[in-house]
Amino acid sequence: MDDAPKRLVIATRNAHKTEEIREMIGDRFEVVDVTAFPDLPEVEETGTSFLENATLKALAISREVEGLVLSDDSGLEVDALDGRPGVWSSSFGGEEGNHAKNNERMMREMAGQEVRTARFRCVMVLAEAGEVLAHFDGSVEGRVLDEPSGGGGFGYDPLFAPEGYEQSFSELGAEVKNGMSHRGRALAKVVAWLDEQN
Ligand code: IMP
Repeated sequence: MDDAPKRLVIATRNAHKTEEIREMIGDRFEVVDVTAFPDLPEVEETGTSFLENATLKALAISREVEGLVLSDDSGLEVDALDGRPGVWSSSFGGEEGNHAKNNERMMREMAGQEVRTARFRCVMVLAEAGEVLAHFDGSVEGRVLDEPSGGGGFGYDPLFAPEGYEQSFSELGAEVKNGMSHRGRALAKVVAWLDEQN
């Protein structure tokens, strides 16, 4: 019998996301992301919801690689900005994936704003061979800080303090963040679902 862990392909090129998922999923799966498959096409995130984008990514990648594919679409919804940047979180500052510019714009738009509540949301889709198997969501409530603090994490982590904490996700560190984050919560549901199938 082959006891090697099954492969789980994460439909992202964001090494931070892959690492978070790898840490949380433990040794159940061999976690790789699409950077392990250099010939795969770039999937355009043309959807207007996290579920739409996560579905687009999971289906496109699962048509190209063998085995289970897990996609994640996530972002920050800020109440004072009517839910923006939401699905457009990664290009909020004008340049796709430029976290420094995204945080600069966030600080600019939130300057002087008293209502600072916000939440990270994540939707994950599991797919295989061009079919969606299931989808899962997770969120974490918190607030946007006036100034970035801490050096850990990625994206808006230095500007986001989860409910009940003064420190940002960056300051709290990976273990605390993963235990309560939108991605951690969605992934816990993925793991429970996968465990149920076995
Ligand atoms: P996606 O790759 O289209 O899902 O975009 C996600 C974007 O949302 C990232 O580029 C970040 O700007 C933001 N984001 C999502 N999850 C997190 C997180 O855990 N911490 C900080 N920012 C996040």
